[in-house]
Amino acid sequence: MGKSTFSVNLAWAALAQLFEFQGRPGRVGLMDCDIYGPSVPLMMGLGGSRPEVQGEGTDAMLVPIERHGVKVMSMGFLVDDNTPVVWRGPMIMKTIQQFVQNVRWGELDVLLVDLPPGTGDAQLSLVQTLPLDGAGDCDDAAARCDERRAQGRLDVSKVNVPLIGVAENMSFFIDPAGNKHALFGSGGGVLTAEKLGTTCSARCR
Ligand SMILES: Nc1ncnc2c1ncn2[C@@H]1O[C@H](COP(=O)(O)OP(=O)(O)O)[C@@H](O)[C@H]1O
Ligand SMILES: [Mg+2]
Repeated sequence: MGKSTFSVNLAWAALAQLFEFQGRPGRVGLMDCDIYGPSVPLMMGLGGSRPEVQGEGTDAMLVPIERHGVKVMSMGFLVDDNTPVVWRGPMIMKTIQQFVQNVRWGELDVLLVDLPPGTGDAQLSLVQTLPLDGAGDCDDAAARCDERRAQGRLDVSKVNVPLIGVAENMSFFIDPAGNKHALFGSGGGVLTAEKLGTTCSARCR
């Protein structure tokens, strides 16, 4: 748990601010490929936003919505909150292709992609559409002993993408006096990373 939260914070709090600081604003993109449950719009404060469409027919391009220096595209911008998306694999594939080809991303330094859990239609469509530099996994400390969670993980061997690292979410809590507590114990991220043959690159509160 925490993939979307981590993606949003990485895009906004880490990367966009870093590029802004370097005098290169607007170079971070966040593509929300969780077609059934897009949570990025809400987390970026963009609930209810609709992207501008430029051009017509097959040439139509969607303009990503920019917030906090991050260019965002999400299925959540295109469907009504109360209408569940009930699509099969080919529709997911088509949407992901459109998010890559028919969105005016401009020149980016980094494009982050937020995915649903597991290795399903979205993951497979994505790797067939875009060459990826790497994948990250987000393990929350509360669930780290639960082997069933492994089923929700991205199987990088199936998608042939290098695993960059593991982020341990909900790693600690800081109380009002400033003391740090590892509510769910510690070391879970490292354990997961070892199992996956990578490193635990981040611990988030
Ligand atoms: N470190 C955290 N501290 C507090 N709440 C969190 C944290 N990480 C995730 N959450 C909350 O848990 C819920 C699920 O997180 P989310 O990022 O949507 O998970 P995922 O994308 O992996 O399904 C959200 O309501 C989110 O706000
Ligand atoms: Mg999510």
